[in-house]
Amino acid sequence: MRQAFRASLLHCLADPGEGSAPSAVEFIEDGLLVVENGIVLEAGAAPTLLTQLADNTKIVEYNGKIIVPGFIDCHVHFPQLDIVASYGEQLLDWLNRYAYPAEAKFAHLEYAREIAGVFLDELLKNGTTTALVFGTVHKHSADVILQAAESRGMRLIAGKVLMDINCPEELQDTPESGYAESKALIEQWHGRARLGYAITPRFAITSSDQQLQAAGRLAREYPDVWMHTHLAENKAEVDLIAQRFPKSRSYLDVYDQFGLLRERSVFAHCLHMNEEDRQCMAAKGGAAAFCPTSNLFLGSGLFDLRAMRAANIRVGMGTDIGGGTSLSLLRTASEAYKVLHLQDEALPASRALYLATLGAAEALYLEDKIGNFESGKEADFVVLDPAGSSLSKRRTDVATSLEESLFALTMLGDDRNIAATYVAGKRVETRERQ
Ligand code: GUN
Ligand code: ZN
Repeated sequence: MRQAFRASLLHCLADPGEGSAPSAVEFIEDGLLVVENGIVLEAGAAPTLLTQLADNTKIVEYNGKIIVPGFIDCHVHFPQLDIVASYGEQLLDWLNRYAYPAEAKFAHLEYAREIAGVFLDELLKNGTTTALVFGTVHKHSADVILQAAESRGMRLIAGKVLMDINCPEELQDTPESGYAESKALIEQWHGRARLGYAITPRFAITSSDQQLQAAGRLAREYPDVWMHTHLAENKAEVDLIAQRFPKSRSYLDVYDQFGLLRERSVFAHCLHMNEEDRQCMAAKGGAAAFCPTSNLFLGSGLFDLRAMRAANIRVGMGTDIGGGTSLSLLRTASEAYKVLHLQDEALPASRALYLATLGAAEALYLEDKIGNFESGKEADFVVLDPAGSSLSKRRTDVATSLEESLFALTMLGDDRNIAATYVAGKRVETRERQ
């Protein structure tokens, strides 16, 4: 079935940079997005395209709204949904006090299944149509989130966590069981429907050398599978790594030596890195997930976007629930702006949009499939409503340019500003109050 959506259209063709390069962004005030069988046929000016449409095309009008590509969350933990906003600790204590007990509950399959569904519905309500997701150590945690994504038609990448030391015993696997279960999950899920698998060592602290080796073996055996972990988030964590791996040049070097730094490797946080690390990550094709709400909430540090992009590292944004404080990539962009402002770096709204869409697609090596409205890409999109809250309405009403309006929407926006979310051209029910 062919459908066309009429609204303002906004998408990125490249990274607009700190100067908001106009050629990197396309804005069509009276736009039309033409979709067939879940794929973008064309995006352009409505007055022109309307004259060329086949007669049976259904037209959906979104007056006063802005259609943007579906948001992509490059780092999030679905089992941590219910511990979001837990008080008072930095990373290592926070893991022990909140994250591990929450993850232990996922031993129960039915509970895991229930949270997986709730979690994906929350993502969609926030306009997020693709995510790279941590499960728990339990094999079925990957099954339930991938199943739930499949039934919603979403493009999603997830993995069972590998962790065999330095964590509660009930949450430990072994190098052998972690390897065998990950392999079975890859065989079952990777490349099925819109799904992908990520080999997911939690971080180097909770995996033995044998387990890191086994993860590296998987990464070599399955080069088109993702690798997803945490890197250099917290100073105490970095110190522990330096003690345990005295021969490694850096934290990144530990992953590199175990064969875990390659294309499709995504590292959450990347706060405490030097230039040598950045050059190495760029040369090997690794990507970074910038998680500002988490980095502020856990008191971890400030992500240096300028240095990462200057090194040509692929960067997307992550919400990092439950260390992060919102599943909304609009709220996440708002905190990203402040994190960068503290470092005298600029984040124009167009670049925030890039980090939540095309930049994130590039970080996941999915830019041929999602991230903007080029013909042939999958039709995942969001209908943004500048008037979604009374304050965002007042502020955007007085804005005199697109950049001003979009910036205000980015700073003030949340799920109230998501009027509709579409996955592969189909609207998903999102708003509770509808
Ligand atoms: N490092 C290792 N595990 C975690 C986690 O669950 N959350 C965050 N933010 N960092 C981690
Ligand atoms: Zn995380």
